[in-house]
Amino acid sequence: MATRTQSKSRTGSQSRTSGRSAAGSKSMSTSRTAAKTSNSSRSRGSKSQNEDMPNSKFHQLFVDQLKDIYWAEKALVKALGKMQKAATSEELADAITTHQEQTREHVARLERVFESIGQTAKAKKCPAMEGLIEEGQEVIDDTEEDSAVRDAGLIVCAQKIEHYEIATYGSLRTLANRMGHEEAVQLLEQTLNEEKETDVLLTQLAESSVNEEAAAE
Ligand SMILES: [Fe+2]
Repeated sequence: MATRTQSKSRTGSQSRTSGRSAAGSKSMSTSRTAAKTSNSSRSRGSKSQNEDMPNSKFHQLFVDQLKDIYWAEKALVKALGKMQKAATSEELADAITTHQEQTREHVARLERVFESIGQTAKAKKCPAMEGLIEEGQEVIDDTEEDSAVRDAGLIVCAQKIEHYEIATYGSLRTLANRMGHEEAVQLLEQTLNEEKETDVLLTQLAESSVNEEAAAE
């Protein structure tokens, strides 16, 4: 079932990192400063009249980030189904099922956020969530079926996902608040709280039987 390619890609990213020279990073920072200076006294090219409105660039950022998390939540609904089937303990499988149901609600809630600001819900691929989901698949591929180690690995991946979502919803709530989108603030906060609760639940699972069993294997 598993084709393991992670060592190949890790080597690639390592060589990219070591290939950067001190001189290269110096010239990058110089050109960034130059770009900043040239843009500081005038506004950057506007694409529509709306961009002259107060907060319009924040609005665009907000909408882009909404599209990103909308894609992420939809992708997560599918991924959690796979993780649930792969889980060993009933406790973890149940926790994942509950969170999958919540995630479906998060998708619907995001549609209400879009609606509350007069936008149609659209998804934009989220590379971060795609990578986190891939890590979950790697755990499934690299661990034995019905093992406690697999559960410990799935919890690690699930918590990475939760932390990504907590960061996203927290930031989106701040942006919505800054622009006075009160309904959006409330909706985003509701999801943020559920993500935090899931994170706490996963920590409890990790600290209880799952890791003890993994250590005994
Ligand atoms: Fe979510």
